[in-house]
Amino acid sequence: MTSKKLETVLVSAGRKPSFTHGSVNPVIQRASSLVFDSVQHKKKATAGRASGELFYGRRGTLTHFSLQQAMVELEGGAGCALYPCGTAAVSNAILSFVSAGDHILVTNSAYEPTQDFCRHILGKMNIATTWFDPLIGADIGSLLQDNTRVVMLESPGSITMEVQDIPAIVRAVRARKPDIVIMLDNTWAAGILLKALDLGVDISLQAGTKYLIGHSDAMIGTAVANARCWEQLREQSYLMGQMVDADTAYMAARGLRTLGIRLKQHEENGLRVARWLAQRPEVAVVNHPALPGSKGHDVFVRDFTGASGLFSFVLKQRLSDQQLAHYLDHFTHFSMAYSWGGFESLILANQPEELAAIRPAGGVDFTGTLVRLHIGLENGDDLIDDLAAGFARIAQGER
Ligand SMILES: Cc1ncc(COP(=O)(O)O)c(C=O)c1O
Repeated sequence: MTSKKLETVLVSAGRKPSFTHGSVNPVIQRASSLVFDSVQHKKKATAGRASGELFYGRRGTLTHFSLQQAMVELEGGAGCALYPCGTAAVSNAILSFVSAGDHILVTNSAYEPTQDFCRHILGKMNIATTWFDPLIGADIGSLLQDNTRVVMLESPGSITMEVQDIPAIVRAVRARKPDIVIMLDNTWAAGILLKALDLGVDISLQAGTKYLIGHSDAMIGTAVANARCWEQLREQSYLMGQMVDADTAYMAARGLRTLGIRLKQHEENGLRVARWLAQRPEVAVVNHPALPGSKGHDVFVRDFTGASGLFSFVLKQRLSDQQLAHYLDHFTHFSMAYSWGGFESLILANQPEELAAIRPAGGVDFTGTLVRLHIGLENGDDLIDDLAAGFARIAQGER
């Protein structure tokens, strides 16, 4: 790993002259066929096809190699596989390490499509999933079976934001079964606020769709693997046809240049809004990892270098369908949309029973409506005014 500081790495990563050809940014090399000018050249390309030789579009072009190198400079590890979206990164990473009859452990706070992949795709391949509480820590050891191959983490957890004690989980798993592959959906931390591989995780996954791209206009998935797992991840993902187009790889690399400064602003705005919410009488709890009282806050303080802009809060009351529509339909700066990680603020809400349904073998410990916010790069005062008007709409409905 380089000794350069993060901000400098974000600017320089993946920009070596053979990728930039005299410009500031890497070239966009769109290609299916890559042409060999001699038999000798073809032999060399074939021999080096997995290690940076131009061979065939599905193995990548200079644009992909530049992004892959940049991701490794940022996250550490031996290599980075690219996918058309975050869901493909998660599912193909898991598939690369399991066979029929195996067993995997997955946090019950995982992103819903990750859960559905385990149920519907792994299930039909006779690969069993055991769900665990995200706060399980070292107790995960008791869930390991002889055929357990993968442990899948996501921290903070989707929507409810529990921060997992990754070092404790890694220690407990390694003590009993050192060869298990431990993966983390590291999207919230954009791969840089939590150095997953340094904590003993084997594969750090990201929906680069969120903060890497950063502008809500493209989709990509990344998987940075350590030396132990890289070759298997690379080859099995390749066989499953996983790649992304050169233009999107370019956009992800471009996103890296402003990632650090964007995240700082998401963090500052997000914390401001979260602290304001924590004082509001309508709010039962704010699930922001950087606020005391959020689940796993101590672990967050120990392991993360900062926060991004996604968090949730729970209202004291459960809003009726009508109240919820009146609340959500009239925001000025918060749009309703899935996804997050772009420059804009977003809002979504879930009823407790909807969340309980996606917390297998768990459930939820609250009764009010949960609101998830992605805090964008707007002015914090404007966002707070907008949220205050939302609370006023709830109060009006009650009169
Ligand atoms: C935590 C997390 N992981 C993975 C994904 C999937 O990413 P994509 O939409 O690029 O497939 C999402 C999308 O919302 C997510 O929130």
